[in-house]
Amino acid sequence: MSAYLLEMRGIVKQFDGVRALDGIDIKVTAGECVGLCGENGAGKSTLMKVLSGVYPHGTYDGDIVWNGAPLRAASIRETEAAGIVIIHQELMLVPELSVTENLFLGNEITLPGGRLDYDAMNRRAVQLLAELNIRDVNVVLPVKQYGGGHQQLIEIAKALNKNARLLILDEPSSSLTSSEIAVLLDIIRQLKAKGVTCIYISHKLDEIEAICDTIVTIRDGKHIATTPMRDMSVEKIIAQMVGREMNQLYPASRHVPGDVIFEARNVTCWDPDNPQRKRVDDVSFTLRKGEILGIAGLVGAGRTELVSAIFGSYEGQYKAEVLFEGQPLDTRNPIRSIRSGVAMVPEDRKHHGIVPDLSVGQNMTMAVLQQFSHGSRIDQDEELKVVRGEIGRLKLKTASPFLPITGLSGGNQQKAVLSKMLLTQPRILILDEPTRGVDVGAKFEIYQLMFDLAAQGVSIIMVSSELQEVLGISDRVLVIGEGRLRGDFVNDHLTQETLLAAALAQPLH
Ligand SMILES: Nc1ncnc2c1ncn2[C@@H]1O[C@H](COP(=O)(O)OP(=O)(O)OP(=O)(O)O)[C@@H](O)[C@H]1O
Ligand SMILES: [Mg+2]
Repeated sequence: MSAYLLEMRGIVKQFDGVRALDGIDIKVTAGECVGLCGENGAGKSTLMKVLSGVYPHGTYDGDIVWNGAPLRAASIRETEAAGIVIIHQELMLVPELSVTENLFLGNEITLPGGRLDYDAMNRRAVQLLAELNIRDVNVVLPVKQYGGGHQQLIEIAKALNKNARLLILDEPSSSLTSSEIAVLLDIIRQLKAKGVTCIYISHKLDEIEAICDTIVTIRDGKHIATTPMRDMSVEKIIAQMVGREMNQLYPASRHVPGDVIFEARNVTCWDPDNPQRKRVDDVSFTLRKGEILGIAGLVGAGRTELVSAIFGSYEGQYKAEVLFEGQPLDTRNPIRSIRSGVAMVPEDRKHHGIVPDLSVGQNMTMAVLQQFSHGSRIDQDEELKVVRGEIGRLKLKTASPFLPITGLSGGNQQKAVLSKMLLTQPRILILDEPTRGVDVGAKFEIYQLMFDLAAQGVSIIMVSSELQEVLGISDRVLVIGEGRLRGDFVNDHLTQETLLAAALAQPLH
């Protein structure tokens, strides 16, 4: 009988001849919480998909021993029956179905005779959400009514309902607020106390440090090390992930902002579902040439609404007066904005960023196709040259530009979306949570790119929930709270406390 709950031996997984996993061995003891760490594209999600039956037995090489016996699952259903439950990196909810229906999808409670027992399911749904401290969700409404953070919590509740022995969480916290993350970490602690084993994937290494007992690092599809957390530090995890010491998280190069070039006046956005309610209330600000303007605030404060109104992609009613070099800018649609030199990389990559049916390269050049067209013909050689150049510049990890974009790891999809907007050669670049799901090394590269753009005179507006990041790279920071502008600070000896106090509209103690 094995001392381990789980052993994965010599796992190899190839996609079109590319080895995403190159002979990985890992062992997990019952009851421990394992932090699975690695750069974007290292193979974390792929390894977990092998384990959970997304990639069935026979589509990979190597062996899985679960609870002392070989596991050769043909589907997710089989691994779930064995007690292995996965929460995927990309949300898997069905938007049109109700919260309850999503929670019980494939796992329905039925009445004798086979009809669905909605009363029982609704009651259980309310209870499950209460356990996660979510009180403002109506379980009979369609899931699409709720934002990303809530949907993520609903996804977690769905997994908790399955009585897992091993719970795999693939970047569960990327769209959660800090208080939601605290709830999530508490839940994992409670699960641990009940003997549930967890594998936790996150690029937020402070979370890993807070809850994991063991750190498994992988790089380029190979196992690098398994180390008890007590012998590790965040710096050591980073060094194992990237294969070198990283002594600097933010670029040191400097740029000097010029004159005011862009101005937004009295931006107001109304809630599409409740036209009485303002999501953004009369916000005005200016932006200098070559300036990096951070926008901080709690999730739900109205930051995304504010920037999408300026870009012309806000879905409800809005009012915005925008001046670019003294000229009024038409903010009624994104295509016009892009033509005027204003580009935006949205927060929600899956719904607004990528076109899943297209290749990596097609996604990247989508907004600038006319550059390559001669009459009705597209100069594909020229297009490919540009795409390869971008792949190199952003160190985007893909076996080929012709792969479907959905074959890229999460962080690399993010880079492709960024590149799509960079190709439009914007003069004002709006980035909404640009480093979500991006590893530490690649974050540095994205910051460096932002600094380079700023030095060339491009003005950047960056919405970010990571206060450290806001402080690390912004020249100036706006704080938004409950739809209003709560502060406009030059980033000089600015602290997280000041920003938080402004966001909460509470004085510092
Ligand atoms: N369906 C697929 N088709 C082709 N290649 C794939 C597919 N899925 C993953 N890959 C490749 O396998 C490698 C590992 O990807 P994976 O998604 O496991 O990375 P990851 O460690 O989860 O990264 P991230 O932190 O960005 O989520 C990547 O190079 C990716 O491009
Ligand atoms: Mg992943």
